[in-house]
Amino acid sequence: TPKGSCLESVKIAIDTGYRHIDGAFVYYNEHEVGQAIREKIAEGRIKREDIFYCGKLWNTCHPPELVRPTLEKTLKILQLDYVDLYIIELPMAFKPGDAIYPKDENGKFIYHETDLCATWEAMEACKDAGLAKSIGVSNFNRRQLEMILNKPGLKYKPVSNQVECHPYFTQPKLLEFCRQHDIVIVGYSPLGTSRDETWVNVSSPPLLKDPVLNAIGKKYNKTAAQVALRFSIQRGVVVIPKSFNPQRIRENFQIFDFCLTEKEMKEIEALNKNVRYVELLM
Ligand code: A2P
Repeated sequence: TPKGSCLESVKIAIDTGYRHIDGAFVYYNEHEVGQAIREKIAEGRIKREDIFYCGKLWNTCHPPELVRPTLEKTLKILQLDYVDLYIIELPMAFKPGDAIYPKDENGKFIYHETDLCATWEAMEACKDAGLAKSIGVSNFNRRQLEMILNKPGLKYKPVSNQVECHPYFTQPKLLEFCRQHDIVIVGYSPLGTSRDETWVNVSSPPLLKDPVLNAIGKKYNKTAAQVALRFSIQRGVVVIPKSFNPQRIRENFQIFDFCLTEKEMKEIEALNKNVRYVELLM
């Protein structure tokens, strides 16, 4: 992202009405996000408690003794006292160190053996210390969630699991499992990603060109993007659409003045292809 565009976008988003901001150390723009939040607080537009900031623990920081210092680093970059939600970004660990994607001489990722349950206990300690109001996970499958839920002496359950979720990847089984355990699904790539070939499986067709989404949008005078977002929130999935375009930032917020019928919800659910855009081949 060009320097400064994240700062501008977050400020526009807050002015538009967005309050949930999904960030991560590895996005390398937390300083801009923090600045935008602090500027809006200084303007009197919002209070800190109006904002819901989610930060993420990267793969190289899974050893329990690294968890709190890593969160403290994020807070220092943000210049905030706490995050609202701190999540384990991925269930697999990389070798700790300065390299974000540590690789050996053959270009293979260097993994690291850690105990996710021990990482989770360090996350719990961050909540107890007041550095994170809530803690959760991301990209966890059912088995990995169960490992945490069944951990002896569990103090706090993950409040949320952030996973890819949209009309072409509806996650019916994981959604049901999470519902049963009061874990909120936060759906990333709710618009079908930017289709950047360096990390996106572009053999799956573009979501926003889908004829059903477009036809339903026509009926409500909405775009396919707005229909896709509305579909997710109507089934209880939190959405975190990404845009750095002021017009589209506003467009993606105009989803609270219409309601999809049960028939339309079913029609959209039937679009599920069970194919991920974000394969996370690591
Ligand atoms: P841009 O930042 O130029 O708006 P996802 O949230 O699924 O990862 O999708 C993000 C991608 O979708 C970005 O490339 C973003 O581009 C684009 N995008 C965001 N909002 C819209 C919209 N309302 N209509 C079309 N494309 C959008």
